[in-house]
Amino acid sequence: MSLTPIGGHSPRRKITTATIREKKLLHEPITCLTAYDYATARLVDEAGIDIALVGDSLAMTMLGYENTLSVTVDEMLHHVKAVRRGVKDAMLIADMPYGSYQADANEAIHNAARFVKEGGAEAVKMEGGEKRADVIRRVIDAEIPVAGHIGLTPQSVNVMGGYKVQGKSLNAIEQLMRDAVALDCAGVTCIYLEGIPREVAAMITAEVDTPTIGIGAGPDCDGQVLVFHDLVNLTFGHAAKFVRRYGDAAALITQSVLAFKADVVSHQFPSDAESYHLPKETQAALETVLHRKHAMQR
Ligand code: KIV
Repeated sequence: MSLTPIGGHSPRRKITTATIREKKLLHEPITCLTAYDYATARLVDEAGIDIALVGDSLAMTMLGYENTLSVTVDEMLHHVKAVRRGVKDAMLIADMPYGSYQADANEAIHNAARFVKEGGAEAVKMEGGEKRADVIRRVIDAEIPVAGHIGLTPQSVNVMGGYKVQGKSLNAIEQLMRDAVALDCAGVTCIYLEGIPREVAAMITAEVDTPTIGIGAGPDCDGQVLVFHDLVNLTFGHAAKFVRRYGDAAALITQSVLAFKADVVSHQFPSDAESYHLPKETQAALETVLHRKHAMQR
């Protein structure tokens, strides 16, 4: 199996929290994709994406859970370690799963440190704005960079009553602005803006010094993120409005699997050229042995 880079491997510098901030100042769009395993991590990294995010969306895309609520720290860590082995230059951010940081700051620091020490993450991501700012500040004080995430926060699905676009009323816009400013003041590395009107994302992006990375938040954010499986059509079911499919891995995989099955069933796979052969001397010796054996049996 080959995992050599597609399209060459031009050297680039390591992306850090400083690079991400610099990109906002220079108005250079920040690119981010989720990665959940070694192979996708290598492809994302070698394509020059700035941030590889081990999102808790892996609960659905990789593990088949109904939502992100069930995935555990240990399950997330398993994937973060695999992605760490595949990522060289991109910044690696690990999502803190539901229940691993909401109770208190000490538990948040303990779990965040596991992602850094055991998983090799360079930052962790937590959902929530104003109400999460104190915990986030404590984690940053423990020398762990944190990415914020506001708007449609999937870990709040039961409170939101479904996956709904947030920030549509004046009150909701005010709350979102307070959330963004609270995260900005807490010193987060970047703020993920999910599922909010373009106009609100643009206001937040202009207001805060922290880089914003949008998903379903329009084009005026400092960067964009998509779920890898959405990008290449590996998610099943309805795709959200903001998803753009750049390839059809599902079609490619299905086609390959069907072709393999057909070849095996019709004895077309493997061919002689795809088989190993005995060295000539061993073959000759084997034939002699078999010949003698047959002669003795007669
Ligand atoms: O879990 C995830 O993939 C995310 C991104 C969509 C931002 O949080």
